[in-house]
Amino acid sequence: ATCYVCYIHFISEALGSQHQHIRIKKNQPSSATKFRLYTNTTEEGCLILFDHLETLDKCSFNTSLPLVMIVHGWSVDGMLEGWIWKMVAALKSQHKQTNVIIADWLTLAHQHYPIAAQNTRHIGQEIAGFLEWLEESVQFSRSNVHLIGYSLGAHVSGFAGSYISGTNKIGRITGLDPAGPLFEGMSPTDRLSPDDANFVDAIHTFTQQHMGLSVGIKQPVAHFDFYPNGGTFQPGCHIMHMYNHIAQYGITGITQTVKCAHERSVHLFIDSLLHDDKQSMAYWCNDIHTFDKGMCLSCRKNRCNTLGYNIRKERLQINRRLFLKTRAHAPFKVYHYQFKIHFINEIQEKQVEPTFTVSLTGTKEDAENLPITLVEGITGNKTYSFLITLDIDIGELMMIKFKWEGTAVWENIWDTVQTIIPWTKGNRRPGLIVKTIRVKAGETQQNYYYYVCSFKTCVEAPARLDSVLVNSGISMVG
Ligand SMILES: *[C@@H]1O[C@H](CO)[C@@H](O)[C@H](O)[C@H]1NC(C)=O
Ligand SMILES: *[C@@H]1O[C@H](CO)[C@@H](O)[C@H](O)[C@H]1NC(C)=O
Ligand SMILES: *[C@@H]1O[C@H](CO)[C@@H](O)[C@H](O)[C@H]1NC(C)=O
Repeated sequence: ATCYVCYIHFISEALGSQHQHIRIKKNQPSSATKFRLYTNTTEEGCLILFDHLETLDKCSFNTSLPLVMIVHGWSVDGMLEGWIWKMVAALKSQHKQTNVIIADWLTLAHQHYPIAAQNTRHIGQEIAGFLEWLEESVQFSRSNVHLIGYSLGAHVSGFAGSYISGTNKIGRITGLDPAGPLFEGMSPTDRLSPDDANFVDAIHTFTQQHMGLSVGIKQPVAHFDFYPNGGTFQPGCHIMHMYNHIAQYGITGITQTVKCAHERSVHLFIDSLLHDDKQSMAYWCNDIHTFDKGMCLSCRKNRCNTLGYNIRKERLQINRRLFLKTRAHAPFKVYHYQFKIHFINEIQEKQVEPTFTVSLTGTKEDAENLPITLVEGITGNKTYSFLITLDIDIGELMMIKFKWEGTAVWENIWDTVQTIIPWTKGNRRPGLIVKTIRVKAGETQQNYYYYVCSFKTCVEAPARLDSVLVNSGISMVG
């Protein structure tokens, strides 16, 4: 079993025992949230005290700059997690013209999960109160506020947005893998929802279910909900990597593994701040299976958007679920391509399941021998679509080469067929023919059409010729 299971066990045990542990705290301290303003990344942060105007000056809060407030999640050890400093540093390095505040609610987050979850509402109210105070005392507009909440912090941010008085809303809320247990399936007023700010985005990275629960919320909660790699689990987070983590961090490496997929949402966001030239693009799609066939790479009518800080803040009538693939490490960006290949399987009664590799030649770089396995066998005369992702920017696609694996399979088919069908016309062997190839590049929205040539003979003349396919075994035409 992988260790996210431990994490879920921990949560579900806590949920199971909630009757013993939940006590409504009647006498909350006046402010359970500490607002720490970060002027640089190494110090403790300068404490801004609600209703103490002088602390704004003392901490050099600059009212003419926007405010980003980071809201952490459930705390297992009562300490701020390491990602927070990385996030602060990233915000400061790329967008120095920003006030960065950490909303530290550790005392109420370092509790059994159900209690911490219940406390999110209260902390949300405190943050709303703090923002109202900024508005009344120094005319700092809430529309200049961006709340970034991780896990339970995402729902805290949602509550802040819904409790703030008046009709105007907070500028933006970003939910980083918003917590699932006790929030999944709840009404919009009981969790982060698109109503909570002028613009709400969310990144879902750990929605894999175990015992009916998932760490991150599965349902959409924002205007744009991003599901990297389908949102269930993340590359590089498998148990095998735990040994590397242990080597790197000692025994706390186990915790690193538990958090890996959940915290990936944070690192994707940080990555968007640090790599301006490597912004990850995500695409609207019904589900990951359709996306995995490469069928959702369109950007028409707001169908795609940029993941992270630099998202296009378009408010649509309906929520958009966006999908993308990523690498296992930063920079996380990959380049998405849809391949649409029209195959003709001349051996009508036989389904073939080819495994092949494809090599791409671009204007900037090449990508060699990418393995492709079609999810369904090829029958008859039909177009198949699949997704290919590249770590590198190859530029304009110039040429594609295919290579079949296991030609022995074809020989066998040929032998079988030969015994059944007596040939009359020449010596042409029936087989699999690649008729047309169309490629769509998600990142550039370029469409490419290819001639398919086999042994110097081009099978079909497509509508437009951008390039020529050169290969040595593209079809079984003998
Ligand atoms: C952060 O600020 C403190 C005091 O303002 C200063 O001593 C320290 O050198 C600063 N650190 C960096 C990395 O700028
Ligand atoms: C606040 O930010 C503005 C805009 O960057 C800048 O012009 C101004 O000097 C800053 N004020 C202080 C007190 O640092
Ligand atoms: C494949 O199907 C198309 C239309 O569906 C048809 O025009 C064409 O003749 C078929 N080709 C073969 C080789 O069966």
